Amino acid sequence: MAVKSAVINVMEAAARKAARGLLRDFGEVEQLQVSKKGPADFVSNADLRAERTLRRELTKARPDFGLLMEEGGAEAGADAGRRWIVDPLDGTSNFLHGLPHFAISIALEEAGEVTAGLVHAPVGDEMFWAERGRGAYLNDRRIRVSARARLADALLATGIPFKGIANHEGFLKTLAAVMPHVAGIRRFGSAALDLAYVAAGRYEGFWEYGLNPWDVAAGLILVREAGGFVTDFDGRTYRLGAPHILAGNDPLHDEIGRLLRAARAEAVL
Ligand code: IPD
Ligand code: CA
Ligand code: CA
Repeated sequence: MAVKSAVINVMEAAARKAARGLLRDFGEVEQLQVSKKGPADFVSNADLRAERTLRRELTKARPDFGLLMEEGGAEAGADAGRRWIVDPLDGTSNFLHGLPHFAISIALEEAGEVTAGLVHAPVGDEMFWAERGRGAYLNDRRIRVSARARLADALLATGIPFKGIANHEGFLKTLAAVMPHVAGIRRFGSAALDLAYVAAGRYEGFWEYGLNPWDVAAGLILVREAGGFVTDFDGRTYRLGAPHILAGNDPLHDEIGRLLRAARAEAVL
């Protein structure tokens, strides 16, 4: 049985509370799908409501910590070295379209390093969590990155840029470079869950351009504590705010990186 620290318990309690609201709202979205007005405003309110719940619960438990929240931005706390990094709803487009693949992501950053992370997918009730030096878990079970060592057997995930996001050409080059070598590539629409799935050994790797700290902060410690690597495409240790991210298991991380680098050289990015 996995023993959760006080910090993980705080994150879990906050995530469960926000998840109840999201699940209620997700049920509504399925109704709104068919209405003329559409569910867009409703979803952005659901997102804001979840963020307010997380902010309230996390601040109640740790009044001194700062915050970096997707909607609310950065707020300094009395403790200048610690802050929560929160995405209240990762996978917004899925949520909006009634697709049950979305998550709440909460990380704790201490002195500039992520030391704990939790990604909760309310539908299916999956709780991924990790703490520095203590391993990564899915609910009560320890998780590890996959042991698959052949690219030909590998299932990878990525994020496809969309309207308003730069570098469509660059992304297509990376896709063209990777797809002939692997068993499959998925675009499930939640970067936090993409990373959690790498940690759980469901995907061998994941790459994407242009993610924000709240998309990846919790996921990156999950992957590292599960024995995987999180870098940029150049193999440098991933730092929040870096322009691209590559997560992978031990045997394949470098090989995928080589393919991505070759694609970028060709695209002159
Ligand atoms: C998005 C998801 C998606 C990724 C986007 C993110 P959001 O976050 O993580 O997978 O491709 O770039 O913005 O908007 O659903 O919180
Ligand atoms: Ca996000
Ligand atoms: Ca979000």
